[in-house]
Amino acid sequence: MDVMAKTESTFSTREFMGEIIRIEPVMGDAILTTFTAPKKAVAEARPGQFVQILSREPTAYDPLLRRPYSVYRADQKAQTLTVLVRAYGRGSAWLMRQQEGVSLDVMGPLGAPFTVRPKTERLLTVAGGVGAAPLRMLAEAAIRDGKQVTYLMGANDADGLLPARELPDEVEYVVATMDGSAGHTGFVTDIIPAYLQWADQVFSCGPEPMFRTLRAVIHQHRMGDRPDVQMAVERAMPCGIGACLGCVVETRRGMRTACVEGPVFEMDEMLWG
Ligand SMILES: Cc1cc2nc3c(=O)[nH]c(=O)nc-3n(C[C@H](O)[C@H](O)[C@H](O)COP(=O)(O)OP(=O)(O)OC[C@H]3O[C@@H](n4cnc5c(N)ncnc54)[C@H](O)[C@@H]3O)c2cc1C
Ligand code: FES
Repeated sequence: MDVMAKTESTFSTREFMGEIIRIEPVMGDAILTTFTAPKKAVAEARPGQFVQILSREPTAYDPLLRRPYSVYRADQKAQTLTVLVRAYGRGSAWLMRQQEGVSLDVMGPLGAPFTVRPKTERLLTVAGGVGAAPLRMLAEAAIRDGKQVTYLMGANDADGLLPARELPDEVEYVVATMDGSAGHTGFVTDIIPAYLQWADQVFSCGPEPMFRTLRAVIHQHRMGDRPDVQMAVERAMPCGIGACLGCVVETRRGMRTACVEGPVFEMDEMLWG
C-alpha cells in the first residue's frame, strides 16, 4: 500500500485540550507532565504511540508546529495521560515551563504501537534517554498481561536513569552508565548479548547512534532472525498525521511515514546506515 493510501485509511482527527494536573521531576533534567484527556484517548492509548502537543502560547505562532511526545502513562481511573519531557529546543523548553492548571492543545494518541505477539512470554526492552518513556508503558502493560520483562537502560550517569520506582516491581531492571555511577560501566548495548537467548522479542527506543550499535550487536549475537526487534524511531514530525511526508523512513517495503506507519518499525525491515 502506498503512503497516501495508507494515510487516508488510517487518519482520524483527535484533538483535545488537556489541563496539566501534575508536574514531577524525573531522570535528571526531565519532568513528567500529566494532563487530563478524553476517556476515549486514554482508553485507546497503546505503548509506542505518541501525542502531538502545541508548544507555544495561544497568541503566538512560534514554534508553529506541534511537537511529538510518547505516551508514558495512560491512567484510565484518573482520566489522564502523562508524557516525559526533556528540553532540547524552543518547543520542549516552553512545555517544561508550563505549570499545573495550564491547558495544553493536544492531538492523539497517534501512530502504530509496539506489537507483542500472543506467544511471547519474555520481553527485553532497551532504552536510551527519553526513549525510556514508551518502553515504561510497554513494560507495565506486559506485566499486567502476565509476561516477564527485563528493562535495560543506559545513561551518562545515575541521575539520567529512569528511577526504579517508575517500573512495576516485577520488572528486572538492569542499567548501564558511562561514568560507572550505577550498574555496568559503558553502553547499554554492551549488556544486550547476555539476554538475547532468553528474550522472545526485543523492543527499543533511543537515539539513532544507539540503534546502530544495537543492530550490530543483535546481528552478531542472535540465532537466525530470533529474537525479532521492534524499534520506535524519534524523527521530527511536522504534521504527525501522514500529510507532509516530512518523517518518512526507508524500509524494505518502500518509504513509510514514521507518524502513521511508525514510529514503531521492525528492525529487520528498516534500511539505514
Ligand atoms: C515519536 C516521538 C516520540 C518522542 N517522545 C519524546 C518523549 O517522550 N520525551 C521527549 O522529551 N522527547 C520526545 N521526542 C522528541 C521531542 O519531540 C523533541 O525533543 C521535540 O520535538 C524538540 O522540539 P523543540 O522545539 O524543543 O526543539 P527544536 O527547536 O525543534 O530543535 C532544537 C534542536 O534540538 C535538536 N533535537 C530535537 N529533538 C531532539 C532529540 N530528541 N534528540 C536530540 N536532539 C534533538 C534539533 O535537531 C535541533 O538541533 C519524541 C519524538 C518523536 C518523533
Ligand atoms: S507525514 Fe507529516 S509528520 Fe509524518
